[in-house]
Amino acid sequence: MQNFVFQNCTKIIFGKDQEQVVGKESVVFGKKILLHFGGGSIKESGLYDRVITSLTEQGLEIFKLGGVKPNPRVSLVREGVTICKENDIDFILAVGGGSVIDSAKAIAAGVKYEGDVWDFFMGKAQVTDSLPIGVVLTIPAAGSETSGGTVVTNEEGLYKRAMGHDSLRPRFAILNPVLTYTLPVYQTACGITDMMAHILERYFTNEKHVEVTDRLCEATLRTIINNAHKILEDPTNYDARAEIMWAGTIAHNDSLGVGRIGDWASHDIEHEISGIYDIAHGAGLAIVFPAWMKYVYKHDINRFAQFANRVWDVEIDLNDLEKTALVGIAKMEDFFRSIGMPVRLSEVEIGEEHFEEMARKGTERWPIGNFIKLHEKDVLNIYKLAL
Ligand code: NZQ
Ligand code: ZN
Repeated sequence: MQNFVFQNCTKIIFGKDQEQVVGKESVVFGKKILLHFGGGSIKESGLYDRVITSLTEQGLEIFKLGGVKPNPRVSLVREGVTICKENDIDFILAVGGGSVIDSAKAIAAGVKYEGDVWDFFMGKAQVTDSLPIGVVLTIPAAGSETSGGTVVTNEEGLYKRAMGHDSLRPRFAILNPVLTYTLPVYQTACGITDMMAHILERYFTNEKHVEVTDRLCEATLRTIINNAHKILEDPTNYDARAEIMWAGTIAHNDSLGVGRIGDWASHDIEHEISGIYDIAHGAGLAIVFPAWMKYVYKHDINRFAQFANRVWDVEIDLNDLEKTALVGIAKMEDFFRSIGMPVRLSEVEIGEEHFEEMARKGTERWPIGNFIKLHEKDVLNIYKLAL
């Protein structure tokens, strides 16, 4: 196990009706607040009104910026930075999913910087400070509610890029599973896939003695798998929604990744797809992860056989570990299919026309992944496997 420092400072407020405390939690950061949100979902569900009431009760001055799209765009981030600078905003409240939270984080970093916020995403500048942000989460998926990362798309060139800093971790995150009842089935499934992918990125490591985190990863994956169909059959099953919501946070708050080096190639490979084609990140991962696994499993067949056995209950065949490993990958693919995810690019009508461009863009800064370093030609092969 490698040396590590683990600190995750986000205060989690979990359970029914908890959005009512958002005003009290926000007011400690100042008087002027930017309320950031996406399309119509929070207005339709009534959450928007409840949040406004809670903020108003605390005497907060509210500035509003809605319209965050899935795969959030840097143009709206720039608009948010201008609003914050012109009005001396103290605090940003993100009400929504990963896209809203990521947009809020990018604004929070941009406010403390003289140059263009996109510099952070291109590695031309490093975040050193940012405005504090808080979250009311409406979709368990990206794990951005406790992560220090943000992923934003630049419309010019369709670059989808990530950056991060500890100051970007939300100060609090309110998680009420009831708020997720209104999610469309497809978005629920995308979220489930994304959180599973966050665990898999950490699970496939070259570090040998990481039993605690291996077992925690496997238990969290099994919990997600166990509750996924319960939600899809009954979207208002509170207990299943609660398990999935907490699992989404655990999957990405770094506790499952300590002492080991995660891989993250599949995320990089997927970001090139959703950057160009604007598909949901979770759907992109359901396509990329099985392809990545088929490309790399020979690097550590034992680990893949362990995954097959402990997560998917595949009996280990000691005479043919490769077979065990491959059955595990197939079971994972079947599971994604069973929750309505695409598992091939052709199923979302993506052909090979941009493969070379995506493989080049994805690896232009450095080879990606840590389990195995992947170069441009490897990434191209993985796109072909995913077709
Ligand atoms: O915009 P609205 O109307 O709110 O609709 C959203 C959106 O269309 C809808 N939705 C959210 N909550 C809802 C709801 N609809 C009904 N009822 C609710 N309760 O769902 C749609 C998707 O929302 P989005 O925020 O895009 O989903 P998600 O949380 O999956 O975020 C995806 C983004 O996060 C990034 C992804 O790349 C992608 O851009 N990621 C961020 C990470 C991070 N910061 O740590 C890590 C992840 O790996 C990921 O890359
Ligand atoms: Zn993800």
